[in-house]
Amino acid sequence: MSRSIMNDAFFQEMATSALSVEEAVTLAPECYTDAQFYEFEKEALFNHEWLCVGREDWVKAPGDYFTTTIIDEPIVVTRGLDGVLRAMSSVCQHRAMLVAEGAGNARAFVCPYHHWTYGLDGALVNAPAMGKTCNFDRKDIALPTFQVEIWHGFIFINFDNDAPPLAPRLAALSDIIANYDLVNAEGPRPDPGARHPWNWKVMLENNNDGYHASRLHQGPLHDFVPSGQAVFPELPEDTAGYYRTNGTLHKDASFNATQRALLPIFPGLTDDERNRMTFVNIPPTLSLVMMSDMVIYLIIRAEGPEHHTMDTGLLVAPGATRDPAYEHKLQMNWVASETIIAQDFHVDEMVQLGLRSRHAIRGRYSWQEGAQQAFNSWLVPRYQETWARWKAQGK
Ligand code: FES
Repeated sequence: MSRSIMNDAFFQEMATSALSVEEAVTLAPECYTDAQFYEFEKEALFNHEWLCVGREDWVKAPGDYFTTTIIDEPIVVTRGLDGVLRAMSSVCQHRAMLVAEGAGNARAFVCPYHHWTYGLDGALVNAPAMGKTCNFDRKDIALPTFQVEIWHGFIFINFDNDAPPLAPRLAALSDIIANYDLVNAEGPRPDPGARHPWNWKVMLENNNDGYHASRLHQGPLHDFVPSGQAVFPELPEDTAGYYRTNGTLHKDASFNATQRALLPIFPGLTDDERNRMTFVNIPPTLSLVMMSDMVIYLIIRAEGPEHHTMDTGLLVAPGATRDPAYEHKLQMNWVASETIIAQDFHVDEMVQLGLRSRHAIRGRYSWQEGAQQAFNSWLVPRYQETWARWKAQGK
């Protein structure tokens, strides 16, 4: 970047991305490429919004834990011996080694470097050979802890301990997904996802996008979810997410070569719900693709202006995994999904290249891109409010 984009005009003009979809223009390309903007975005979004890190059933038993990173902050999520779910920084308060990696079960976190030991509540309980160190009291030291909230079985954390709770602002979306009963849905912890060379918003927009379905994915694996049947319902203004429904050409459509659900249908679904797919987004990290027999969830973890890592998980109806043919049916779904995902990933990577070009402009939207406008309407006020706050603070 030769000149800073961070000025009043940039943030004022941004408002045109949150107009109605008929009037709106896309965000400026720099919002997807610029390192300075990404640093700003950490404060505008990631340091204060609720961030999905995983599922509660990944940490069922006391001592269970898993680790992750968002905006390069190492995080450990654990269920204490007291049964309480906690999220903490996994950065050792001695010399910054990570006290936990991967996932497992532990009674305490012993830092491998010099064996400082932390309880599952983050308190430093042992620090060897520190008796001669002046003004050192291990009781003053603990892993920083974060707010935790559970929503439909998903664990959300917030780095801001003063942030208001999430669930009240997701009430409208809770109603939309209630019949899937995701608290009781089953699905293993997915392997940590791959790192992708495109901005986290490119990924979220791609998964939101009803417009490309009948074009990029044209063919028998996707034609039964036509772009022309996309609907973008209005939600209360303060809702912390948004969704699209997309009618399907037949009931219980699913992504495999038969075009129909192979796994048991979520038992609570209505006929209407079985005749559409539902795409729910809780920015900046969680995106759901909801079908009659499975829910695919994406946890999108920003890692810089032009990279993110994405964990892709699957939820199915209770008992679905007991079918002896479950793995074979699942394989049929994944084969189709991987074909579709490969088409998306190619586009995402090329879009990131395009966004870096001097010829990238702020484009216009089709009515079938209502979810992009909804995303912009979530982003723009947060960007503008943070910019105004920074200015008031003389930053
Ligand atoms: Fe953890 Fe030294 S860095 S004990």
